Parts: sequence; structure tokens; C-alpha cells
Amino acid sequence: MEPALIDPFNRAVTYLRVSVTDRCDFRCVYCMSENMKFLPKKELLTLEELDRMCSAFIGLGVQKLRITGGEPLVRRGIMTFFGAMKRHLDSGALKELTVTTNGSQLEKYAEELAACGVKRINVSLDTLDEEKFAKITRWGRLPQVLRGIEAAQAAGLRVKLNAVAVKGFNEDELFTLQDWCASKGLDLTFIEVMPMGDDMGEANRLGQYWSLQDLRDTLETRFTTTDLSETTGGPARYIRLNETGQKIGFITPLSHNFCESCNRVRITCTGEIYTCLGQEGHMDLRPALRDNPDDDAPLVAAIHKAIGTKPKGHDFDYFRQKADGQMTRHMSHTGG
Ligand code: GTP
Ligand code: 5AD
Ligand code: SF4
Repeated sequence: MEPALIDPFNRAVTYLRVSVTDRCDFRCVYCMSENMKFLPKKELLTLEELDRMCSAFIGLGVQKLRITGGEPLVRRGIMTFFGAMKRHLDSGALKELTVTTNGSQLEKYAEELAACGVKRINVSLDTLDEEKFAKITRWGRLPQVLRGIEAAQAAGLRVKLNAVAVKGFNEDELFTLQDWCASKGLDLTFIEVMPMGDDMGEANRLGQYWSLQDLRDTLETRFTTTDLSETTGGPARYIRLNETGQKIGFITPLSHNFCESCNRVRITCTGEIYTCLGQEGHMDLRPALRDNPDDDAPLVAAIHKAIGTKPKGHDFDYFRQKADGQMTRHMSHTGG
């Protein structure tokens, strides 16, 4: 199908990221504040509304659907929703159904995810040190996540680790992470920490910012690398470590902006559409959905209107004046 959602910069929107809950069982320091206030349940889109929303986007040419949160797998009944989305894979309209998870519930759900047609998943993991893991997630337990990753692999899911590069926190684990992923057959992507959230803790995000150019330079003290042209349809650019054959991804919103090729929008768990992660602009799609239970036309019109407002790129910037380029919205609001 021809992509029907074209933004003002002639980019086709084919990738939808849908947050199904604002809740999470962890509180990663760069993602949520310690005392997050969560929304009352009635604010959330119901599973049926999520289905209508996603189906409308798929009808408009979305081919990749990523379920996010908070932690998507803590949403009650979420497997029913995955099961319902499988019909779009079966019909060929949807090419990929996937999830970004903290891994805590994977032991429970890996097999069901695979049965729903999920082929690969991304698991957020920044450290292999139990104490450091508990610190960055504020109370998460690493062994639970490691068991989840094993369960996912046993269920036949391809797993990619998302490691946020945090200065002074996991710099010393670069080769440990790389080597561990190679030994386990896991893909690995590093992400530059983005300046979002109002609770900076001891350091502001600039203090935590570790440029992936530096990270790559460090990798190249041990390996030669080749740039790859293939993509996963997301923002990562990949390289190969020639000596191990391993593929490593880099998500570099700060050091190397990738907005020119942006193909995605986000829906929050309350039905707002954010057309750019790094901008405040959003529209509420819930009224169009809720007020017209038997007619998708107003929703489709609202989606078109929102896509018409998609900006050229994000506004993150560590190098302007301090408070500038920092967004008080938490990453968990839009699911990354
Ligand atoms: P793949 O399908 O494996 O390519 O996944 P993905 O990278 O698209 O999704 P994932 O949920 O794993 O996101 C990884 C990181 O990329 C998260 O930190 C997201 O916030 C970030 N990210 C995804 N899309 C964008 C984007 O459009 N802009 C910015 N600045 N960051 C993004
Ligand atoms: N900067 C970069 N990545 C972040 N994530 C959460 N908060 C941030 C941030 N401030 C990542 C998580 C997860 C993905 C959805 O977003 O680690 O992998
Ligand atoms: Fe939860 Fe993921 Fe945010 Fe960590 S990054 S607090 S695991 S939603």
C-alpha cells in the first residue's frame, strides 16, 4: 500500500509507537522521577480504543507498530491486545509488531508474544552489575531481567539490548556489554541520553551525556568497524565490528541528528499524538475516538491534521544555555 500519511517535509509516517500505560515497575533515573504520579485508569485508552487507534493508523499505511510504556507488559490484559493486532500481521498490512520493554515481565510473557507474531523485541538494559542496575532503575532486580531475556530467546524472539550511554555510570562497561551480547547472540544499541524530565537528581543530563562518537572511538581502540547501510526502520545507525562480526547500533539524537529520515509518530496512553519526541507539539485524538464509537472518519481526519503539524526535527540541545533544550516532559510520557 502507498503510504497515506505524508508530513509537511515529505516524509512518510510508517512507524507508530504506542504507549499503553504510563506505569512502570522501575524508575530509571533518566526516564521518570522517583515519585511519579500515575494517571487514573479512566484516563487511559481502553484495549478496544487502542485497537481502533492502531487499526486506523495501519489503514493509513503504518507498517511497523511498537508497543511502549511506561512498561507495556505491566498493563493488565495487554496480551489480548497483542493477540488482536496479530490479525494485521496475518493480513499483511502490518510488517512488524514489536515491543520495547524493561524485561521484568518477559519470563511470563515471552511465549505469548511470540505466539502473537512478535519476532524481535528491544530490552532496556544499561549495566550488567546488579548494584548499578538497582541504582539506575532505582530498585530493579537484574536477575529477573536476565531470566526474561533468556526466556525471550528460548521463545525464539530476537532480542536487542538498548543501553543508554551514561557518563560516569556505564563507560567502564562498554566492552563488558559488547562482549556479553556477542556471547549471548544479542543485538546491542547504544542511546545518547536525551535531556528530558524535571528530576535531574545529582547531575543534570549534560553531566550524564556521553557522546556516542566518543563511545565509538573507544570501541575502535580494540576493533575496526564498518558502517552498515541497513536499518531496522528506527533511528539507529549500525556498524559492524569486523573482528567479531557483531552489529552495534547508535542512536545519536544529540551528536548526529537523524530527523531528516524520521518516519514515526507516538501515541500516549491517553490518546495524544506527539509528532516529534523532542518537541512539545501534540494533539488529543481521544475525543475523535471516544465521541464517535461507530465511525472512524473523525479519527482519520484528526490523524491527518496532526501529521500536517509534524515539525522538521527535535529541539534537544545541551549546548545552548543551560535550561534551554531541556524538556520537562518525562520520556515515559511518550514511551521514547
Ligand atoms: P528498532 O526497531 O530496533 O529500530 O527500535 P527503535 O530504536 O525504533 O525503538 P526503541 O523503542 O528501542 O527506541 C530506542 C531509543 O530510540 C529510545 O531511547 C527512543 O526514545 C529513541 N528514539 C526512537 N525514535 C526516536 C526519535 O524519533 N527521535 C529521538 N530523538 N529518539 C528516538
Ligand atoms: N534518554 C535516552 N533514552 C532514554 N530512555 C528513557 N529515557 C531516556 C532518555 N532520557 C530509553 C529507555 C528505553 C527507551 C524506550 O528509551 O532506556 O530503552
Ligand atoms: Fe521504566 Fe523503561 Fe522508563 Fe526505565 S526507561 S523507568 S524501565 S519505562
